[in-house]
Amino acid sequence: MTEQALKALLDSMTIQEKVGQLIQCNAGQFIRNQLEITGPDGETLPTEEVCRIMGSVLTFEDAEQAIALQEMHLAADPKKIPLLLMLDVIHGLRTTYPIPLAMGCSFDDDLMAECADMARKESSACGVHVTFNPMVDTARDARWGRILETNSEEPLINSRMGAAFVRTAQGNDLSDPGNIACCVKHYAAYGAGEAGRDYNTVDLSERSLRQDYLPAYKACVDAGARLVMPSFNALNGIPSVANKWLMNRILREEWGFSGVVVSDYNAVGELVAHGIAADHKDAARLAMEAGCDIDMVDNSYYLYLADLVREGTVPAEMLDEAVMRVLRLKNELGLFENPFHGADRVAEKRLYLCPEHRETARRAAEETAVLLKNEGILPFREDVKHIALIGPFAEEKHLNGFWSRPGAERDTVTIPEGIRALLPDTELTVERGCGAAIGDTDTGGIARAAEAAAGADAVILVLGEPENYSGEGRSRAELNLPGPQMQLARAVLAANRNTAVVLFNGRPLVITELAETAPAILEMWYPGTEAGNALARLLWGRANPCGKLSAGMPRSTGQYPMPYNRMNTGRPKPPPDCKPAPFTSCYLDMPNLPLYSFGYGLSYTTFSYEKLEIDRNEITKDEKLHVAVTVRNTGTRAGKETVQLYLRDPVASVVRPVQQLIDYKKVALEPGEKKEIVFTVSEQQLRFFNAEGKEISEAGEFLVSAGYADHLLLTEKFRLA
Ligand code: BGC
Repeated sequence: MTEQALKALLDSMTIQEKVGQLIQCNAGQFIRNQLEITGPDGETLPTEEVCRIMGSVLTFEDAEQAIALQEMHLAADPKKIPLLLMLDVIHGLRTTYPIPLAMGCSFDDDLMAECADMARKESSACGVHVTFNPMVDTARDARWGRILETNSEEPLINSRMGAAFVRTAQGNDLSDPGNIACCVKHYAAYGAGEAGRDYNTVDLSERSLRQDYLPAYKACVDAGARLVMPSFNALNGIPSVANKWLMNRILREEWGFSGVVVSDYNAVGELVAHGIAADHKDAARLAMEAGCDIDMVDNSYYLYLADLVREGTVPAEMLDEAVMRVLRLKNELGLFENPFHGADRVAEKRLYLCPEHRETARRAAEETAVLLKNEGILPFREDVKHIALIGPFAEEKHLNGFWSRPGAERDTVTIPEGIRALLPDTELTVERGCGAAIGDTDTGGIARAAEAAAGADAVILVLGEPENYSGEGRSRAELNLPGPQMQLARAVLAANRNTAVVLFNGRPLVITELAETAPAILEMWYPGTEAGNALARLLWGRANPCGKLSAGMPRSTGQYPMPYNRMNTGRPKPPPDCKPAPFTSCYLDMPNLPLYSFGYGLSYTTFSYEKLEIDRNEITKDEKLHVAVTVRNTGTRAGKETVQLYLRDPVASVVRPVQQLIDYKKVALEPGEKKEIVFTVSEQQLRFFNAEGKEISEAGEFLVSAGYADHLLLTEKFRLA
């Protein structure tokens, strides 16, 4: 349709029909509304009349349902405006790839794009028009259960991976039924909730917001994301969905975003609980004024927006603009011509869990695992006769993580399945040992587990957090291994030193004691559908771990927040970090630095950083600096290393971080092979927000280093003229 035709359509709509485009309910609510509903539910569900003119639906099942919903709607809608179908496809639809935090550990934007492509194919076949992805909240506090949904504590990784997802999922032409639109979330700073508690209030300086939180959302908007979702939290006193400065001033004016804003689930109505709206009518007004187009699963627009417009409280043009944005998106998706978009029952069956997708998911699970410690016991020897597989997650099927589809565990390859597929002749004893729930104290199975460990050639001890301990609304104040898992670990490690600890969890955990006592630790996060196959291949060296932590692992929960790119303070703690230094910025009871820093991760081979060379000592604003880092594989296996480039600005008009990741590249090296990795640094990467809130660069000296946070190996100096 042309813009003119869309405008004519808009002009033909009643106020109520226009409001219909701005409301959204669950598929479940939508379908149930076809039935006769009595009782309290009937009052909260949109009426059948509203369903007829409703603009969008979220969270539906499959292509069959997508087609049925659209048919049902089009048959009833007097204006025949197709529904938009939205779904949270966060780390794969049916073929689940690792959780986003794990994907960040791959430091591999191409791998992200490959996974996004698989998600795009499965989602479009399922009938998805819009996915609520990428989630690019900077998260520096693992108490927050949603840290798993983000790629990293570092906005650069979130920016690059988020943009890679957007470009891949949307393609060049949204009307192509294979492409889907992306909704960036949760704008803004949702990850900075006080004390790591979900939905909690956020208080941030504008400088910190602009420097550490906004860039990733902006990168996704720049990559073309068609929708944005404001976050649940209040930001400096104003909840995002009502935050005019955030939405109108920054998002629309500064960044030029012209797409659709869809509230988070019930967030408009929650303005009442936040205490900035007197009632739902007031909430609807506030959200409209802040440019929130669609009200997700809440009654505020549904019940009050038409009245607000009729009374003149919300200008009619404001309503029209919001509706036009929704209509334009539908038009861009080609829904007026093909309301079913890619929904295809046959393609769905063919694509879901197809060998090619499983292969991608397995490779992703291998590339995102982080080897935290290895005293030479991994990879295990090929000729092990008897393996003991121990721990509460030894036979777990829930290894997909939050936002996997209900029932996803049915398709998950378990660890025993993975090991048996790889080593069919090896004897495998499985002992659960204990549970892993908070408050679980039953230690009855530990002695038997230790006995099994003692009788085996190799032990795999599988610990972590139950899958439902991370995700939305799942913050924790203590990040220990819940239940009696440490008791189990002590007993097993005492029984057999040839024990590799494997961790499944959705957030960095406090594993300080394990780090001292276990000979090997492999962090698997939630690896998804191919969990067992990927793990077996990693443990027996068919795959070589190459993940690097995308968020630091604390020694104690009390260290949070502990960003790797911290400021120096006036009394920085001098090295070594192991002892307190009087009257410096330190703890009396532990080091300042995390147990394992951002960017850290081992391999079965070793790498040496041989040279860091810069091609000039000074650049002007228009010149580029080339930084060449030479890395050699000094071990006996092929492996991959992520070369990380950090910057430090030692003197500036405002305090600058002690280190800042400005680029990364992953390189594959055969044994003995060396490669030179060249980075380009420009004035743009030296910019920061000054005291007046302006983004500037300042002339002077800079340090550029390679290595990982808290362990920079090679450094050079240059100047910005
Ligand atoms: C979450 C969003 C999600 C939405 C729709 C909310 O509860 O915060 O991340 O996209 O639900 O499912």
